[in-house]
Amino acid sequence: MPRVNKICCIGAGYVGGPTCAVIALKCPHIRVTIVDLNQARIDAWNSPDFHLPIYEPGLEDVVRKARGRNLFFSTDVDKGIQEADLIFVSVNTPTKKSGVGAGSAADLNYVELATRRIAAIATSSKIVVEKSTVPCRTAESMRIILEANSKPNTRFDILSNPEFLAEGTAIKDLFAPDRVLIGSLQTSEGKEACQALCEVYRNWVPNDKILTVGLWSSELSKLAANAMLAQRISSINALSAICEATGANIDEVAHSIGQDSRIGSKFLRASVGFGGSCFQKDILNLVYLSESLNLKEVAEYWKQVVTMNEYQKRRFSKRVVDTLFNTITGKRIAVLGFAFKADTGDTRESAAITLIRDFQEERALVNIYDPQVEHSQIWSDLSEASPSMSLETIQRQVSICSSALEACRNAEAVVIATEWAEFKTIDWQSVYAGMNKPAFVFDGRLLVNVEELRAIGFKVAVIGRGERL
Ligand code: NAI
Repeated sequence: MPRVNKICCIGAGYVGGPTCAVIALKCPHIRVTIVDLNQARIDAWNSPDFHLPIYEPGLEDVVRKARGRNLFFSTDVDKGIQEADLIFVSVNTPTKKSGVGAGSAADLNYVELATRRIAAIATSSKIVVEKSTVPCRTAESMRIILEANSKPNTRFDILSNPEFLAEGTAIKDLFAPDRVLIGSLQTSEGKEACQALCEVYRNWVPNDKILTVGLWSSELSKLAANAMLAQRISSINALSAICEATGANIDEVAHSIGQDSRIGSKFLRASVGFGGSCFQKDILNLVYLSESLNLKEVAEYWKQVVTMNEYQKRRFSKRVVDTLFNTITGKRIAVLGFAFKADTGDTRESAAITLIRDFQEERALVNIYDPQVEHSQIWSDLSEASPSMSLETIQRQVSICSSALEACRNAEAVVIATEWAEFKTIDWQSVYAGMNKPAFVFDGRLLVNVEELRAIGFKVAVIGRGERL
């Protein structure tokens, strides 16, 4: 069985960075080099004051312990490839924006470029591991590219090892994963390569949590897991619309159905809609795969999960407008939270972006506060969401504030878009004193104590609760 002494990870993003930093921490005998073409990102990973490029609780501690010992960050991709016995490909696989499959298929350009680089550079045998989320049978394309370009006496074994970490709890998830999934060809070489990667994980993951399966099952399992998780959110959100129309309470409904052990209580929290770089992209990927396989009904079934999510965001922003007497033109709205969920600075597909764009279209004034997201990221996301508006026009309507209290000053309404813990301890008395009256709170994350806020004088509208404000 090949033994892994040196690992290279191509892609120093939200997955490659934390995953391989944890491998380095848990396997001091393995030298781990994380490479990326993005110089600024690598500089941030190497920054003397540990101002890392991504915010993730516990990550800094891991990097502090391992960096410079057996964990290295570099832009020298070729050297990383050359030296490694095992290479993780952890590059981005966004939804295609143009060409065949635009809007649903995964853009595999980055995976292909990384694969071709491995083939061009490697002069010794390598285990190549798909860490990126990819459509079913991508490993086959990688194998063909690698074999067609390999040097004599160089063999490549390809594994699929999708990542199940959730942003915001990435380090916790990596330290104690529900499972590690490794897919390989069922040949003797494929199984040996699989065992070599199992050995790496066995340094801290119990053996019964390491699942070994066929390559295609592994690739499909990742898409399936994300599709099922997102489907659960869309299901509870669909029920939240019924609650608002009938006077039922989504918290009570979720609790009641979650007591059924077949359903379970986790991931049943209604919200303004799911975001993040993965759920929508991976479902659309599954939709595209189903369509390519001529499984029209299957494709339509999964597509509905995304449709429901879009509906939930629109429904929420419409509720804000309807409640504020059918117009928000010239009114100031405080949006608390811009990240797609708490404990991350990631804004990809964040519901807040859609809400703010809707408010801008209604010509409202918007104050934004988020404890982690960089201001430059907010401006870039808002510009991308409204391509017909110049940044100057956007900045006439939108301000970024440095506290929740500041964002709420002189506002007509507060919209809670991200479930940051600090929003649970806001001094609502002071917020109320500084707002125009009637003062509204729209809770898109089931975060506030409704009765307490109503006692102060607020009019409170909550996702999945339809009672009078
Ligand atoms: P990311 O965009 O944060 O990072 C990808 C990095 O790869 C970028 O820094 C980019 O510069 C680099 N890169 C691209 N091509 C390269 C090349 N040829 N050579 C060197 N570097 C290159 O993406 P993220 O979020 O880390 O996602 C990576 C993959 O993991 C995606 O397929 C995603 O679907 C999957 N995934 C993401 C999760 C998440 O929570 N973000 C969770 C589980 C899987």
